[in-house]
Amino acid sequence: MPPALKALVAQLAGLAAAVALARSGTLAGLWPLVGAQALVAAGVAAGLRSARWWLPIHLGFLPLVVIAHGAALHPGWYLGGFVVLVLVYWTSFRTQVPLYLSNRATAAAVAELLPEGPARMLDIGAGTGALLRPLAQARPDCRFTGIELAPATWAIGRLLLRGHANVEWLRGDLFSPDWSGYDLVYAFLSPVPMPAVWAKASTEMRPGSMLVSNGFEVPGHEADAVIEVGDRRGTRLLLYRMGVRSRGRSG
Ligand SMILES: C[S@@+](CC[C@H](N)C(=O)[O-])C[C@H]1O[C@@H](n2cnc3c(N)ncnc32)[C@H](O)[C@@H]1O
Repeated sequence: MPPALKALVAQLAGLAAAVALARSGTLAGLWPLVGAQALVAAGVAAGLRSARWWLPIHLGFLPLVVIAHGAALHPGWYLGGFVVLVLVYWTSFRTQVPLYLSNRATAAAVAELLPEGPARMLDIGAGTGALLRPLAQARPDCRFTGIELAPATWAIGRLLLRGHANVEWLRGDLFSPDWSGYDLVYAFLSPVPMPAVWAKASTEMRPGSMLVSNGFEVPGHEADAVIEVGDRRGTRLLLYRMGVRSRGRSG
């Protein structure tokens, strides 16, 4: 079951339990019922094997709705907040890739991986261009491409990258362009798309070019090298050299 559907089922189960408790007279009063809804929703989410971080969301969801309702804010604020979140997170409920940005230490480590002469690099799921900005400044001899799907992050990136002549900034799905023209493809995504990323990389990327994954392994394939960036996040860059070998763990 997709995570968003599990969340809906958990919330509805919590609501059904709270209604049943109120009707049977077992529990009365707003906050006891809200608490019961939250506990049942979290319990059902755990039973459905939702990721652990869903549990505090279920525990806090209805209590926050009730508190927000009490604040009597104009409904336009909620609509506005919803629209902003949609524009930033876009299809992350489907892709299961959230937005978080590479830091400067990671950009410096990636800069070390670029070949000495002019090279081309692609950031798949480029966010706001947080990685490409420092790289484009550090390596004016190289050409960088970022492709981003979410409209708001893409638009922010476009603004921030104005004046960076060596950056091409595209809006679209990371699986659409051909990756064969790049010496380095950088992925900071999530575990979910990594098998598809590997399938595309191993089909299209040239021998000797490099796929660099920030944090997430390609299942069944051992990285050729792992770089510890040494930042506070504990960033690890996993390097997969294309065409040299395809070392599956399962043989
Ligand atoms: C973890 S962020 C990384 C941002 C940037 N690469 C960085 O390192 O700072 C992942 C980004 O990938 C984008 N994304 C997820 N799936 C995508 C897809 N199929 N096509 C293009 N972008 C995608 C998300 O919108 C998000 O901005």
